[in-house]
Amino acid sequence: MAWSDWIRTVEIEPSLYAADFANLGEQLNMLLRTGARVFHFDVGDGHFVEPITFGPVVLAAVAPLVHSFGGAVDCHLMVDNPVKHFPQMARAGGDSVTFHFEAVDDVPATIAAAREHGLGVGVAFNPETEPAAVAEVATEADIVLCMSIHPGYGGQEFMPQALDRIEALRQVLPDRIHIQVDGGIDNDNVRSVYDVGATLMVAGTSIFGREDLQRSYRRLVQALA
Ligand code: DX5
Ligand code: ZN
Repeated sequence: MAWSDWIRTVEIEPSLYAADFANLGEQLNMLLRTGARVFHFDVGDGHFVEPITFGPVVLAAVAPLVHSFGGAVDCHLMVDNPVKHFPQMARAGGDSVTFHFEAVDDVPATIAAAREHGLGVGVAFNPETEPAAVAEVATEADIVLCMSIHPGYGGQEFMPQALDRIEALRQVLPDRIHIQVDGGIDNDNVRSVYDVGATLMVAGTSIFGREDLQRSYRRLVQALA
């Protein structure tokens, strides 16, 4: 069974990009103890997106801890030539890889390549990309990720146009494919993205940017109750 099959109706997914890296293990433990089970791991290559973030070496350090709680690490590859990185991400303990529609020529073949490594698969798309074009080729994916910011950095403001885009996507995607949303998710907008059909909400700054991350995580969950 793929990890995406047990997504609890809806998941708030802490994005490690916003974590305090000097206290990463402690912060992860706190979120795991408060109930978070799916963690977002942003790999930026300094080419597809401007910043270089982190990669398999850090993943190998965090994945065993997340797995010991029965959780999953969902890897968002903001990189050119994502296929090249699949074997390493799988070996380092990644549970799924989400690559960008804009970064590959053949989406179905890229999905198939990830499956060969036993990985769950997501297809992400940028704010300029037409949701219907993604839906058409992502039929074998587990997740489709609608970016609600331009990918690269955390702490940006949610683009409200994402709501219509998620709604349009939900209408054309098969029910079994989860819609994920990433960028600027906070207490004020998390309910509205859920209402239009997203079930996996990535949250960086709105969890790690606050003093009490357990409380911030719980508040996001409660906004969906
Ligand atoms: C940035 C990443 C996001 C980032 C979101 O492009 O893909 O996952 O961590 O951060 P916030 O929640 O701060 O917008
Ligand atoms: Zn991301």
